Amino acid sequence: MWRSEVNDAVVDLIDPRPGETVIDIGAGMGPGVMRAAASGAEVLAIDPTPFMRTVMSGRRWFSRRRKSIRVLDGAVEALPAGDHQVHALWSVNTMHHWSSVADGAVEIARVLAPGGRIVLVDEDFSDPRHPNSEEWHKRHGEDSHHGFSMVDASEMGDLMTGAGLVDVVAEQRDMAGRPVIAVTARGPN
Ligand SMILES: C[S@@+](CC[C@H](N)C(=O)[O-])C[C@H]1O[C@@H](n2cnc3c(N)ncnc32)[C@H](O)[C@@H]1O
Repeated sequence: MWRSEVNDAVVDLIDPRPGETVIDIGAGMGPGVMRAAASGAEVLAIDPTPFMRTVMSGRRWFSRRRKSIRVLDGAVEALPAGDHQVHALWSVNTMHHWSSVADGAVEIARVLAPGGRIVLVDEDFSDPRHPNSEEWHKRHGEDSHHGFSMVDASEMGDLMTGAGLVDVVAEQRDMAGRPVIAVTARGPN
């Protein structure tokens, strides 16, 4: 995805600042990366899929902000960043891919600087209010979710709190006019 209103909203909530290091976990083709790079922060675009990194690298190459973007191999369960080095991180539409939500929470807590900001969002395409719901149901069927399972907001919240993160809010809400599961939190001071 090249541009997305949900990515725009998430990055605006994160509010990256010049001099900060921030991470887009599962950056894909970089809608969040490009918006964040405009702030002057150093942006780490992390994704485990080679195709996504290839597309992101091409996009980076044509960006005026390329010096502040790094494209890196990694996943939420093993982030390529040192302990407490990251001022803010976000992720859009990746939580349902995480092999272990518990491991992801611990890894996020490891890399985050004290007071660091977190926004994790998965759109709920199965909700009839989502503008792409009809298309999603055609693709996935109405019965089981055919391998797609939405993350559970309260479970996510408990795991984030258990990993030591603070001010955790995990809820179903609307963002950019779409129903989402959203988790916001901070690294402990
Ligand atoms: C639906 S795409 C979303 C991409 C981008 N965040 C966006 O909003 O356009 C899901 C992305 O998650 C990545 N991904 C899959 N497993 C992951 C994991 N365990 N940790 C982080 N990212 C993962 C995929 O490679 C893919 O790029």
